[in-house]
Amino acid sequence: MRYDAVLFDLDGTLTESEPGITKSVQYALEKMNRPALDQATLRRFIGPPLMESFMGIAGLGEEDAVRAVEIYRERFSSVGWRENSVYPGIAPLLRSLKKNGAYVAVATGKPLDFSRRILDYFGLSPFVDRLEAVSLSDRHADKPALVRRALPASFRRACMVGDRAGDMEGAAANGIDGVGALYGYGSREELANAGAAHIAESVEALAGYLLDGSPAAAGVFVTFEGSDGCGKTTQMNRAADWLRACGYEVVSTREPGGCPISERVRAIILDVASAGMTAECEALLYAASRAQHVAQVIRPALARGAVVLCDRFLDSSLAYQGEGRRLGEALVRAVNEPALQGLEPDKTLFYDLSPDKAMSRRLAASAPDRMELEKKEFTDRVYGAYLRLARDNPARIAVIDGDRPIEAVEADTRRLLLGALAGKQED
Ligand code: TYD
Repeated sequence: MRYDAVLFDLDGTLTESEPGITKSVQYALEKMNRPALDQATLRRFIGPPLMESFMGIAGLGEEDAVRAVEIYRERFSSVGWRENSVYPGIAPLLRSLKKNGAYVAVATGKPLDFSRRILDYFGLSPFVDRLEAVSLSDRHADKPALVRRALPASFRRACMVGDRAGDMEGAAANGIDGVGALYGYGSREELANAGAAHIAESVEALAGYLLDGSPAAAGVFVTFEGSDGCGKTTQMNRAADWLRACGYEVVSTREPGGCPISERVRAIILDVASAGMTAECEALLYAASRAQHVAQVIRPALARGAVVLCDRFLDSSLAYQGEGRRLGEALVRAVNEPALQGLEPDKTLFYDLSPDKAMSRRLAASAPDRMELEKKEFTDRVYGAYLRLARDNPARIAVIDGDRPIEAVEADTRRLLLGALAGKQED
């Protein structure tokens, strides 16, 4: 890689922070009975220290500017910090830098508390070795000092990536390269005049420049499992939305199904008119649908580096056909071999809810399909199989207590997904 230590600015470089910042500036000006500014002028507040901008751009005296910063922070700390999104491609870039062994730091003129909250909320923290930010009492962010503190003790070659002149100046003051993020809030002229060694027009171009031919991090494959009605589909949809807001390419899919051919196989399996289907036929159909889905959807997405979230996968066959239909684990694994060709989920989230509770939730939602018409004895066996699979594969399968409010289950889901993205094994 071109650099073994890469420092990033936050606003306008990692995150698109215009709504949260400009709305909070407008709010402060309004509270101080100052005239409203147009959006282009408000945008100039993003990046430089707020004190400086309230004085230089809004024309406030020093005392008024101090008060304006206080009012700004009232709004920013409650709602503004979340009116923010990560530029698409940033999270995969940070993952790739870490995967290739780079040191990654964030050096921002934002207060530490907000910066930490933003990195945590958007799932970037696991990829950041060091965060250097300012304290709430600091009136002026000293970018050269921030950059100095963010640098590791030793490095071969480092750079500071940022979207404003201050970032390039901070780099120059420390004798490292400044890399301009032109997709942020500064102009090409501003960045070039401040001495940028390179200017990237997009996150993609930035990734190409920083990785310089080193491989991007591979995709991550996460499966969601549990009894019918356990809440896994709701959790998976929420997880997909969150990961997209974090800047990942997310492929959200399901089994049986996930592509036209497999959806047609799904219709045959689940149709109540398929009563009388043998257990062997059922297992082979699930495996057939999986073969197409893996080849057409899952493998290509993983090869692109996407995060693939799949509602049910092989563990469903092991639990439902292997145990529920009593075909045995060995046979189910054998018929799935041609479909998988060695593919295994990086992480499996098992939503643990007793079959009785799961079924009453399920039946409240819609009419049962053929699998859901099975007797309690069958669903109990399936549930037991899941518990055993989780015990036998503790590194891959995480058990999440599904009998809690959606938000609590969601928090666990996010934590485990981040663990999988960071390549760590958690339980
Ligand atoms: P679906 O409506 O998708 O159920 P859910 O929303 O609970 O995931 O139907 C899938 C049904 O198919 C479900 O009852 C579990 C069953 N199934 C198997 O028996 N074996 C398998 O390999 C898979 C993927 C699903």
